[in-house]
Amino acid sequence: AAAEEEAPKEPEPLDYRKVAADIAELLDDVDYDDGSYGPVFVRLAWHASGTYNKADGTGGSNGATMRFGPEAGDGANAGLDVARNRLEPIKAKYPQISYADLWTLAGVVAIKEMGGPSIPWKAGRTDAVSAESCPPQGRLPDASKDRKHVREVFNRMGFDDREIVALMGAHVLGRCHPDRSGYHLPWTYNPTTFTNAYYTLLASEYWKKEKNWDGPMQYSNRKGTGDIMMLPTDMEMLWDRTFKQYVKEFANDEQVWFDAFSSAFKKLIELGVQFPAEAPDIVLE
Ligand code: HEM
Repeated sequence: AAAEEEAPKEPEPLDYRKVAADIAELLDDVDYDDGSYGPVFVRLAWHASGTYNKADGTGGSNGATMRFGPEAGDGANAGLDVARNRLEPIKAKYPQISYADLWTLAGVVAIKEMGGPSIPWKAGRTDAVSAESCPPQGRLPDASKDRKHVREVFNRMGFDDREIVALMGAHVLGRCHPDRSGYHLPWTYNPTTFTNAYYTLLASEYWKKEKNWDGPMQYSNRKGTGDIMMLPTDMEMLWDRTFKQYVKEFANDEQVWFDAFSSAFKKLIELGVQFPAEAPDIVLE
């Protein structure tokens, strides 16, 4: 009996629903951007994952390598320290959770809280111990480039055309920041609500190169008030015949998009991760 008492205790399994509820509490802040950290949490989950290369299994959300200089300092990740810092109290309260799980869960919670689909999420990512695990810089997409670049980047991760267009609809959320990417303005009029407005606006507005703007070339809407934007890579969703088919599909049916987005985002945040066999999918209500 004595030996039994001395046996090392298994740590209590973490209640990820509690963690998710605490993340949800961190989203709103009237003093930040459009009033929510949701969009930047989604961008953190995406950039943590979007370095994946299916050819050699490097990159991806596993490892949370954006904690280290080479990846944190990638220009593409400018501003994501805001999201990582905001999540520190969660890590302090639940030291058991890996940063890699925390960042991806925060994206899923944010999407759900902003009115989007419940994306099944599971735990099991581990954190790398040094910068040596960082993927090389330059794996994330460059907004100034064309459809060839977009396909190269997303095909490298293992996504097809429909998944690319489905993922891009996340630009319904948030905005560009001149001090982060150099671009400015949001894509939609309700940038903290997860709807298919990215596609409806892309398909219905008259987009033209923005004048009187000394930042990198971007598009703004002319029919409207000129206060929403599209990146060159967003315009490719309209200009490429195949991409455009899916823009129309998702503009016409929000539920169809929610389903496509949910599968593609789940795939994104799981790229390259070896989950324990028993890891259950958690679906947040
Ligand atoms: C923001 C580029 C795909 C989610 C941004 C910004 C740029 C950008 C330049 C502005 C960053 C800033 O100034 O703060 C791109 C390019 C993509 C792409 C070139 C692919 C060709 C995606 C995908 C997702 C996503 C696949 C998620 C599924 C977001 C979100 C924001 C954002 C939520 C808003 C962040 C905030 O408000 O702080 N993106 N993106 N993007 N992106 Fe993307």
